[in-house]
Amino acid sequence: MRKKIVAGNWKMNKTSEEAKALVSEIANIYQAEISNDVEVILFPPFVFLQDAIQLSQDSKIKIGAQNCHQEKSGAFTGEISAEMLKSIGTNYVILGHSERRAYFGETEELLAKKLKIAFETSLKPIYCCGETLEERKSNRYFEVIENQITNALKDFSATEMKDIVLAYEPVWAIGTGETASPEQAQEVHQFIRNLIEKQFDLKTAQNTSILYGGSVKPSNANELFAQTDIDGGLIGGASLKARDFIEIIKAR
Ligand code: PGA
Repeated sequence: MRKKIVAGNWKMNKTSEEAKALVSEIANIYQAEISNDVEVILFPPFVFLQDAIQLSQDSKIKIGAQNCHQEKSGAFTGEISAEMLKSIGTNYVILGHSERRAYFGETEELLAKKLKIAFETSLKPIYCCGETLEERKSNRYFEVIENQITNALKDFSATEMKDIVLAYEPVWAIGTGETASPEQAQEVHQFIRNLIEKQFDLKTAQNTSILYGGSVKPSNANELFAQTDIDGGLIGGASLKARDFIEIIKAR
């Protein structure tokens, strides 16, 4: 059976002290209040990863990075490799986030390389896809998502897919306060699951966790997570407040 996952993408937020306080607060409340079987992952900025790993080590919380470089090592000033992340105990990496695609020109070709290196390094990728407002309005969203999924995953086998999590994040819903309705999200999640079945097989499709992201908050998490093909969420803004994030973890 597939896992329910709630992941917090902190993006470029928090100072060192704030980051440490937030990890500790989430870890403490999680230990005290969460009994359901949810995989919780925090994605702080690179510079706070080591502290986050240390502060969460007695809890079940996992720590992930927001990006990694596509090469193993070398002359890439300012970059961080998958191996470096693994060597400090990072478990996951977000790849294909729409902000990376839009502001840093990340293409599917590049993302396929990043996925490979993450996979080879045993960092579990959360691979994001999602359409822009213009692509939704012009009814091209299925085509866009199909390209994002099939191009990036073309070099993977069904067995390898066990360690890859997918996230549907409509760009028009990220950080805008506007959430996809549960029906809109479910429609795309089901479409993605069918794509995985076509590209791999039914069992792989049934076992792949597909998260929804885009203005998830305590007030809408229940109805989103109740959808058949939504297996949890990738949370931005609401993951920066411990109480909100915990309420989202409790949603089902
Ligand atoms: P948001 O961000 O929850 O602030 O909309 C989600 C994301 O970008 O992962």
